[in-house]
Amino acid sequence: MSQDLAGQVALVTGAASGIGAAVVRRLAGRGAATVVVDIDEAGAAAVAEEVGGQAIRVDVTDPEALAVVVTEVERVHGRLDIVHLNAGIVGGQSGVEDLDVVRYRRVVGVNLDHVVYGTCAAVPALRRAGGGTIVATGSLGGLVGQRYDPLYSMTKHAVIGYVRSAGEALADEGIRVCALCPGFADTPLLAAAKEAFGDFPLLTADGVADAFELVLAHGEPGQVWIVQPGRPAEAYRFRGVPGPVGAGLPPDISATV
Ligand SMILES: NC(=O)c1ccc[n+]([C@@H]2O[C@H](COP(=O)([O-])OP(=O)(O)OC[C@H]3O[C@@H](n4cnc5c(N)ncnc54)[C@H](O)[C@@H]3O)[C@@H](O)[C@H]2O)c1
Repeated sequence: MSQDLAGQVALVTGAASGIGAAVVRRLAGRGAATVVVDIDEAGAAAVAEEVGGQAIRVDVTDPEALAVVVTEVERVHGRLDIVHLNAGIVGGQSGVEDLDVVRYRRVVGVNLDHVVYGTCAAVPALRRAGGGTIVATGSLGGLVGQRYDPLYSMTKHAVIGYVRSAGEALADEGIRVCALCPGFADTPLLAAAKEAFGDFPLLTADGVADAFELVLAHGEPGQVWIVQPGRPAEAYRFRGVPGPVGAGLPPDISATV
């Protein structure tokens, strides 16, 4: 059964297009007030107008700008409950050694730094709201290697590592941090490679929004959810690593590091 989100406030990055726009529509349809964040000002305005939300133009690689957005959301709406850190770009280079350093920093900035900055900006507001949920959009490319885009895959692996760790760190405060990892989805991100997929099944942005709803309803702190065409979204089960022989769990060193 879908959730009633009336009275809740949701902020979505990368929300002018594709998955982010679909999630905004879904959240607004459930009654949430939505804040549509994107570097594409016109696109964000159009989505916000469609759902009666608020559009804010931001480059998510700027930590101060993200903090200002959260302040603005609290000023306008009085609270923040749901944050979808979703903006992302592809690596944009072929092979490994042919490195475009400017593009490399950009991919890390948008796909990874933004998740860290967005989380840090949102947590105090979520705390003030009595708890809340952060969902970062990862990718199946964050769980398996992608020979055609190692930089993208690297950033998404890092997002997953951050979510798993921050999820544990914030769980006691009622702040859930989860990741949602879609398979290939038919959005503008994939447009340049679309023909190469032929009749390979692709997710729709709306299908990913279905998965987002499942994460919102059932996600547990630090979980990584996967979604593929034709399969219901599910929490990914990591295999775990063996500990030292004869020892239990490692000690909690959080007070010492
Ligand atoms: N489409 C896929 O196959 C696929 C698969 C797995 C994961 N993802 C992830 O899903 C997320 C959404 O991608 P999408 O497929 O909807 O693509 P999309 O290109 O339709 O949307 C991405 C949005 O992010 C915005 N954006 C890019 N850089 C930004 C910046 N610096 N500041 C603010 N906004 C910025 C873009 O303007 C765009 O609106 C991304 O994180 C992507 O990596 C996509």
